[in-house]
Amino acid sequence: MTRAAVLSGLGGWLPPRVVTNDDLPAELDTSDHWIRSRTGIARRHFADPGSATSDLAVEAGARALASSGTPHADAVILATTTPDRICPATAPEVATRLGLADAAAFDLNAACTGFMCGLACAAGMIATGVTDRVLVIGAETYSSILDPLDRGTAPIFGDGAGAVVLRAGDPDEPGAIGHIDLGSDGSGAELVGVNGGGSRQRLSDGPEREGERYLTMAGREVFKHAVMRMTASCQTVLERAGRDVDDVDRLVAHQANIRIVHQLADQLRIDRGRVVTNIDRVGNTAAASVPLALLHGVADGAVRPGQQTLLTAFGAGFTWGSTLLTWPELVLRD
Ligand code: UT7
Repeated sequence: MTRAAVLSGLGGWLPPRVVTNDDLPAELDTSDHWIRSRTGIARRHFADPGSATSDLAVEAGARALASSGTPHADAVILATTTPDRICPATAPEVATRLGLADAAAFDLNAACTGFMCGLACAAGMIATGVTDRVLVIGAETYSSILDPLDRGTAPIFGDGAGAVVLRAGDPDEPGAIGHIDLGSDGSGAELVGVNGGGSRQRLSDGPEREGERYLTMAGREVFKHAVMRMTASCQTVLERAGRDVDDVDRLVAHQANIRIVHQLADQLRIDRGRVVTNIDRVGNTAAASVPLALLHGVADGAVRPGQQTLLTAFGAGFTWGSTLLTWPELVLRD
């Protein structure tokens, strides 16, 4: 029988420091009203200096493992744009701190689509027998790359981590990862990203280039691409799965902006009542966004066993990805 990857655990972690819109620096020249009405965000969590992405990832990973009912996994995929350092990857340290001795472990950078790519990698590794249980974590510390004086990004992003466990199982089981769509368009590379610190623009070039270590984003342009690409990707997955939009009980999209999520739902003709959102409390947490939205959706009772759940994300690169699954019965652990 064909092996499938089955979602069997879910967890997440937010650093304790909450920053409301009113807590943002006055120099940003923004307002609670503007941020709420243009993005849907009311607050976000920021890790304190000294906390790294691995710290968040370990907390989320431990909760996902506990939720899965066993502390074991033979691989860890960490989707992140904000690793602890450029080299080595952060995932091996996370695996070790979780007690996963000898587990395969690597980082994956597809920005806000990273978690979806992580699911695809894990599903492939399980289907081909490379591994039996994979911990997929999306974890970010965007506060480390935000220009505190850029109102186009500083109010938008937040820190956090979400994680799932995938185990080998049956394609017909609830939670089985079936059809996945992934894509990219590198012509959008300049529109959102961090220019400095890589091999192209080296940070040692001088203090005047300090700003290049920050994330920049052409928000309005990126917005249009996000709606267009996630719409097409969701349609592709539904088509491959032989499903119609009317079959979709819950839409869990990357939480970049509530207006993006609503436009996506409208384009797909999915009633906004079927949209799961937590952007008001966490902002855009990039690779952690989809698993955190799932976690909060399950905790709130919005995502329930048996529901056809459509997951989709879009991010820098550009990158995008979607999948559809029947939501499984899960036990959340604090
Ligand atoms: O996660 C990866 C992918 N990321 C995304 O998908 C994010 C996509 N983009 C967005 O979510 C939105 O474009 C933003 C939230 C970043 C910006 O919202 P917008 O509605 O697209 O605003 P805008 O950039 O078109 O700016 C409209 C106005 C401008 O003023 P003028 O030129 O009309 O006078 C901006 O200067 O709003 C101004 N503005 C702000 N005002 C107060 C921009 N940011 C702010 C702000 N507070 N924070």
